[in-house]
Formats: sequence, C-alpha cells, structure tokens
Amino acid sequence: MNATAESRLAVLIADDEESIRFVLREALEAEGHRVNEVADGESALDALSSDQFDIAFLDIRMPGHSGLEILDQLRATGSNTAVVIITAQNTMENAVEAMKRGALDYLVKPFSLAQISALIERARSTRVLRDEVRELRREAGGSQRPGSERLVGRSDAMLDIFKLVGKVAVRNVPVLITGESGTGKELVARAIHSASPRSNRAFVTVNAAAIPSELLESELFGHERGAFTGAISTRLGRFREASGGTLFLDEIGDMPIGLQAKLLRVLQNGEVTPVGGRDPIFVDVRVITATHHNLDEAVSHGNFREDLLYRLRVVPIEIPSLRERAEDVRTLAEFFTHRYSTELVEESIEISEKALSYLEKQRWPGNVRELENAIKRALVLASTKVLSPTDFNFLEDSSRRHGGGQSLEDLIVARVRDGLSEDKVTDLHRKLIESVERPLLDTILKHTDGNQIRAAALLGINRNTLRKKIVELGIELPGKDESA
Ligand SMILES: Nc1ncnc2c1ncn2[C@@H]1O[C@H](COP(=O)(O)OP(=O)(O)OP(=O)(O)O)[C@@H](O)[C@H]1O
Ligand SMILES: [Mg+2]
Repeated sequence: MNATAESRLAVLIADDEESIRFVLREALEAEGHRVNEVADGESALDALSSDQFDIAFLDIRMPGHSGLEILDQLRATGSNTAVVIITAQNTMENAVEAMKRGALDYLVKPFSLAQISALIERARSTRVLRDEVRELRREAGGSQRPGSERLVGRSDAMLDIFKLVGKVAVRNVPVLITGESGTGKELVARAIHSASPRSNRAFVTVNAAAIPSELLESELFGHERGAFTGAISTRLGRFREASGGTLFLDEIGDMPIGLQAKLLRVLQNGEVTPVGGRDPIFVDVRVITATHHNLDEAVSHGNFREDLLYRLRVVPIEIPSLRERAEDVRTLAEFFTHRYSTELVEESIEISEKALSYLEKQRWPGNVRELENAIKRALVLASTKVLSPTDFNFLEDSSRRHGGGQSLEDLIVARVRDGLSEDKVTDLHRKLIESVERPLLDTILKHTDGNQIRAAALLGINRNTLRKKIVELGIELPGKDESA
C-alpha cells in the first residue's frame, strides 16, 4: 500500500536496539512514510531540533537522554510532534508518566505491526486537526510566527528547564522566572503558555518597567470612562484581555509597592476592579512573572512585598546566564544561523566549526539576545556561504565597549568568576594596563617630539623605566631623537 503525498508522514525512530529500528523502518517505509532512525538520545534531540517530524517513536531507555526526557523537551519547546514511548518493561509508573507528559501512546515490546499502523493513523488525524487549529488561529490573527517560541538548548540546566516547563504547563500554578537580561525569560513564559491548555487563548505581556507607574494600574485593571483626566472611554485592562489565557508580568520587580498590594488582592480573589469602577469583575487568568532583580533582596530593602513574592514564586525557574552554560552556545548559534539565513538573507548559509568554537569562547554579557544579534549581523554582512571567525570580528569591539563601563577590578573579578586561570588574568591585567599606557606614552612623546628626558619628567618616572616601557610596548618614537 502506498501513501499519497499528504498522507505521507515524517517519522523518527529512536531506539538503541537495531532489530526494533529495522522492523519499524521496513513497515513504515513500505507504507510510504519518510523514516529517520537514530540509536541514542543525543541524536534523537539533534534530529528533532533540525527537522520537523509528525511522529517520533522513542525508546524509554537509550544512551544519552531517555524517551521521557525527550518528550518533555518537545512539549516544552511547543513542538507538535506526536510521541510514542516504547519500553521493554511495562511498569505503571512509566505508562502514567508517558501519558501525563503528553505522549500519544505507550507501547510495550514486543508489539505488532497492526498496532503501529493504528498509531500512524492517529498521528495523521491529529496532524489534520492541528493544521486546522493553526489555520483557525491564523484567521483569528492571534498567532505568533511559527517557531518563534522554540526554546533551544542542550545543557543540563536547559534540559531541567524544559522539563519544568512541561510540568508547570498543565497546572495553573504561578511561576516566577528569573535570569539576567537576554537569557530567555519571556521565551520560557511563552513556552509555558503554548504547552498549556490555554495555548489557543491570548498571551498578554505587560512590562512594569516600561509603563509610567501612574498609568500601570489602569493598564492592568482597566478604567471606567472619566475615571481620571484623559480617560475618555472605558478600558478593559490587560487582566481582562488575557481572560482564559496567560498574563505575563515582565519586570515585576519594578512594580510600585502600592500597586503590589492591589495585585496581591487580585491574585487572592481572582477579581479585578477597574480604576473608577465599583464592582469587582471575575477574571480567569494564569499569571507568569519575570524579573532580572533579586526579589529577596528587594524584600529585605522594603521594595517588594514578601507576601506577594511568596504568592508569585510557587514555582521558581532560574535561567542561568549563557556563560554558565557555554555548551548551549553552539546549539543556539546553529539554530539562529539556520533560522535567519532563510529569513534574512534568503539563502542557506552555514556556520563553520571554527566560528562555533570562537563563539563558545565569548563571554556574552547580553546572553542569548546578544548571540542572536551577532548571528544576524554576521549573516547580513557575510560575503561567503560559510560563516568564519572573521565574520564575528565586531564582537571584539563590543566586548571592549562592555568592559569600558566597568572598573578594572570588576572586570578582573568577573573574569576570575568565569573560570579564567590566574595566568590568563595576569595576561588580561597586563593588556589592560598596556591599553592605558600606550596612548598615554604616545601622546606625551609626541608632545615632547620624542624627547625621552622631558617625557619621563612629565610622567614622573625615571628615564630608564620609560625606555623599558617604550621597548616593551613597541612604541614608535616620533622625530629623530633616540638618544636625546
Ligand atoms: N533557549 C533559547 N532558544 C532560542 N532562542 C532563545 C533562547 N533564549 C533566548 N532566546 C532568544 O533571545 C532573545 C531574548 O530572549 P528573551 O526576550 O526571552 O529574554 P529576557 O530574559 O526576557 O530578556 P530581558 O530581561 O532583556 O527582557 C529572544 O529573541 C529569544 O527568542
Ligand atoms: Mg524580557
């Protein structure tokens, strides 16, 4: 039997047992499906992140990552791939886990080919359903660019975050996301929303730091007509706009303390009262918050309400900085290169191994956002089809700029914390001193026309020291006078 083009599915088989892969592959290819097979968890993740599959058969126990872990990751990234967990030992725990985590089914070895065909049928019908939902959403105009909420990462830290996203998605528990700027806080919030039962309802964002505090209350809770000067018409407010969906309160640490009390009340009662209104209105909203501040510290300084913090931080998700998970740099860089080469330059550009290891060595003070922008910039400026380290030359300048605002000590302390050896720090220290000394000596020697005696006097150092420095730094003397 042969499948028609649209009934042809893309199938991934991940199992370390060769015979299982062989049997599945034979059966599925005979039905006309496109089959990829891998033998371990790592390769399964690779395949799933670089290709779109309709259905994946994942062995529960493989080297690398288990089928369940991969399932969590897929759900966290908002993937639509249907997953069938395969296992040799049928345990209730595994079966329950698999289904709770959103597997299409749970299959115990040995299985019959009739079971496989039935599963393929189910995957096909969910695909049709899914396409319809997507179409509807597009018509409603509310959807994101496809793939724009895909979280990428390979580090253990990110894997833990994927799992957490999967777990908290199904329950309406308050989640507080913390992490440096550009680490992906908003993206994690979106991933939770997309993996949740609310995914086809609104995801509404309010940035407490971006809205003047006197307007924030009506922004959140709405207002009645004439509630204050300028309130010409009534306004729903973000809480009610997010009804049935998710409200993402970004930079919650910047919310004025007075408004924090009102927010707490809304969270306790599930009701909002618009500014100038009398009757509270019931809202069904899931609240996710994020901040780059340390809220415990803010509490101790009296800038944040402790009771509100406990209410918001039922499940904390802390995203480590990119330099604490350098192994993600490569995966992210490849992902962004792939995404933006088609989106921005409309041709396929690759990234070289050398460029990847160069990027891995960078500090990324702006975290994933900085890496993403670096890739975009390199792609747009690139003259060849493969990005090489020189395409990222501009990073040198920007890292200098970043260092510019910091004191020497700050910079060195930061580097030591980042795990640089003492040698490297000494080296860095020397470079920094040189970077100050060189222009200073240059200027002064120019001023004295290369006269070292006068230059040494102006600098307040003795002439031999100056001569040594000139040699060390390889400074070219102006004028003729070497021995003056
Ligand atoms: N794990 C990831 N996979 C793919 N893209 C990511 C990931 N993390 C972050 N990004 C991308 O990096 C950029 C910054 O992410 P995001 O806006 O979520 O960060 P943020 O922590 O909210 O930053 P800020 O504190 O500055 O608001 C976005 O374009 C986002 O898509
Ligand atoms: Mg953000």
